[in-house]
Amino acid sequence: MSKHNWPYPHIVAHRGGGKLAPENTLAAIDVGAHYHHQMIEFDAKLSDDRQIFLLHDDTLDRTSNGWGVAGDLPWDKLAQLDAGSWFSNKFAGEPLALLSDVAARCRQHQMMANIEIKPTTGKEVETGRDVALAARELWQGQTAPLLSSFSYQALEAAMQAVPELPRGLLLDSWHDDWQALTSSLDCVSIHLNHKLLNAERTAQLKAAGLHILVYTVNQPERARELLGWGVDAICTDRIDIIGPDFR
Ligand code: G3P
Ligand code: MG
Repeated sequence: MSKHNWPYPHIVAHRGGGKLAPENTLAAIDVGAHYHHQMIEFDAKLSDDRQIFLLHDDTLDRTSNGWGVAGDLPWDKLAQLDAGSWFSNKFAGEPLALLSDVAARCRQHQMMANIEIKPTTGKEVETGRDVALAARELWQGQTAPLLSSFSYQALEAAMQAVPELPRGLLLDSWHDDWQALTSSLDCVSIHLNHKLLNAERTAQLKAAGLHILVYTVNQPERARELLGWGVDAICTDRIDIIGPDFR
C-alpha cells in the first residue's frame, strides 16, 4: 500500500466494543457494529498450537475465567474458557475469539480492521509472521487490514512474510528516531499514545508522509483537537459518544 493510500475512517473502536463489551470478543465486535463503527482495533496472539486468537494480556487472568500464560495453552483448552463473565453476567459464556471468526464477523458487518499483533513475550517473530499470513488469506477481497505492533520484531516478521499488508508502528513513549524506525519497517502509519502528541509533532510526522493513529482517546474535546491538528484516526473506548460521524 502506498503511504498516500489510506482507506481507513477517522474513528476506530478500541478492542472491538470499547468499554461497552468484554474486550476482544465477537460480542464486542457486534457492539461496535451496533454503534455503526466502520473500523475496529483488536489484539491478536498465538496459542501453543499456533492458532491465532484475540487477547490483550499475556495472561488469561484479567479477562477470562482461566489463569496463567494464554500462549502456553492449546486452542482446544482456550476455547472452553468464559471471556465474558468478568465483564458482566449479560456476556456470560462468551468465548475467546479466533482470528478466522473475527474476519468473518468483520466481513458480515462490513467493518475494517486494525490487527494489533500482541505477541506473548518471546514469540514475537512467529506471531508477526503467522498473523500477517493469516490476515492476507482471511481479508481477501476486503480492505486490507492495518497491522500494528509495539514489537519491532513482530512487524519486521510481518513485513518479510507479507510485505504488501500495511503496517503501523505503535509507540507508548516518544522516540526521537521515529523516522528511522518507521522507514525501516516501511510503515504507512505511526500509532501513538495521544498524550505524546502536540501540534508540532503532528506536523513533523505528517511532513514525513506518515499517517497518524492515536490511542486511547475518550474525551470528545481532545479528539476534536487531535483531528484538528491533522491526526488521521482516533482509537476510542467511548464508542457511544465518539462514533463514525464524530466531528
Ligand atoms: O492499538 C492501539 C492500542 O490498542 C494500543 O494499546 O494496550 O490497548 O493494546 P493497548
Ligand atoms: Mg490494542
